[in-house]
Amino acid sequence: MEVVICKNKEEASKIAADMITAAVAANPRTVLGLATGSTPVLMYSEMAKAVKAKKASYRQVKTWNLDEYEGLAGTHEQSYRYFMNKNLFEKIDIRISNTHVLNGLAKDPEKECARYEAQIRKAGGIDIQVLGIGSDGHIAFNEPGTSLQSRTSVVYLTPSTVRDNARLFFHGDMKAVPKRALSMGVGTICEARKIIMLAFGRNKQDAVKGCVEGPVSQFCTASALQMHNDAWIFCDEPAAAKLKLKEYYSWRSATKLGIRK
Ligand code: GLP
Repeated sequence: MEVVICKNKEEASKIAADMITAAVAANPRTVLGLATGSTPVLMYSEMAKAVKAKKASYRQVKTWNLDEYEGLAGTHEQSYRYFMNKNLFEKIDIRISNTHVLNGLAKDPEKECARYEAQIRKAGGIDIQVLGIGSDGHIAFNEPGTSLQSRTSVVYLTPSTVRDNARLFFHGDMKAVPKRALSMGVGTICEARKIIMLAFGRNKQDAVKGCVEGPVSQFCTASALQMHNDAWIFCDEPAAAKLKLKEYYSWRSATKLGIRK
């Protein structure tokens, strides 16, 4: 696991976006796994800038998103489909038919999850998976207590996630936040060939600590990344504050990336 501790979220977002731009430029058929939340927004705008500057084209790129709220249509302003359209897809040259988000309105949600898994397999698997992290250490919507081998399925949100998401996306209205979602599993996520996680701000420091230095445990589903051999975590100083080996990771990972001497 590489931990890149950046000066701020602007620097982290730019470096992570550059990594994705370079991968897409090298392989125009890259398969991306994408994430929602406030954290990747800056990275997505950096990716869009690179497309404008003709550094990469997404014409043949295919994407699969991590999760979607149950009960929300893709046209709903709080749906993750809507979020992706606004924050990335409408700003790059991707074909919308090549972008995939779980259908929150599926009549049979479990069947929808199985279909999604089969689609990803058929596409050859995910080359690069983008992740944020919940303040309780969850990835996608895999809350504490989820098997680290879980597959895409219907999941339940913890009250703390409902609270976090109400604050950020539902104008503080907890009742408006769906309590279930369709989510890629931890096992599904860990099959991606490369993982890029972003984590910013003080309220992520316990989650980052658990992810990087905690035991591998279903209590912090992000800790499954410790078992992955190409996982990169880009964080700012506040998010990295509780890491014991902070200086070591910072030096090692930055040196590997060639961003610091
Ligand atoms: C939700 C999403 C996660 C995301 C998390 C953190 O729970 N399902 O994929 O990582 O929110 O969101 P934020 O980046 O806004 O802190």
